Amino acid sequence: MESTEKEFALHFESQGTGPPLLLIHGFPLNSRMWAGQIAPLSNHAQVLAPDLPGFGDSPISDTTYTVERYAEDCAAVLDALDILEPVTIGGLSMGGYIALAFARLFPERVRSLLLLSTRAGADMAEGKANRDKAIAGVKEHGASAVTETMYPKFLAPATYAERPAVATQANDLMLAASPEGIIAGLSAMRDRPDSTPLLTSLKFPTLIIHGQEDQLIPPSEAEIMAAGIKGSQLHLIANAGHLPNLEQPDEFNSLLSGFLNQLK
Ligand code: MLT
Repeated sequence: MESTEKEFALHFESQGTGPPLLLIHGFPLNSRMWAGQIAPLSNHAQVLAPDLPGFGDSPISDTTYTVERYAEDCAAVLDALDILEPVTIGGLSMGGYIALAFARLFPERVRSLLLLSTRAGADMAEGKANRDKAIAGVKEHGASAVTETMYPKFLAPATYAERPAVATQANDLMLAASPEGIIAGLSAMRDRPDSTPLLTSLKFPTLIIHGQEDQLIPPSEAEIMAAGIKGSQLHLIANAGHLPNLEQPDEFNSLLSGFLNQLK
């Protein structure tokens, strides 16, 4: 696996050759959340997985982030590799908000979309107020103000009980987030626009995957996106919460590789 920062500020993983697939991680995680996907999918694609600023190994210069700014950073990863052809953009949760922003800003760079454990809608007033409270909590107490609240909601209840190694993996991913990265992510999610009106204009092949037991974003949100995006494919994964790629990696990987094969 090539791991590089080149002259560009974001750290990203790159493995495989073939049509590019850019995977954007969720909040407050990092590219290592795709460890179980990168090797198997690299048989089908050049898999690129950046760490967003302040997460994993990427530095952050300031906390004034928007989903559009993250999408521009992702486009810069493609620029750094001279990838000009349209690519498959996949994002989980916050990564999905960024993937939708990418599709809005750079439709000509999108070959297809993966919308994973995510939603199209914006935060309502209560959600925005909760983001502000979380930002204040991180400023006062550090990253744990957010990570400790989120940890019990990340996975399906049975995953915590029956597969503690998966729970430890999810927790370790969160512990790599900096307070600045968390504040930037919370601000960007709070201020993200409603992408629901965009859905009917999306003409790319789209795969939507959601855990049936997602405690953070209900599966009904995936159904709303599937109803809006003409021709999209929706798969609900049983015995999975918010991180189906960690909780049910075989089913998840086979859905993604099947989708990438259909594009050929
Ligand atoms: C994520 O998993 O990226 C976030 O929990 C999404 C959100 O808080 O809206």
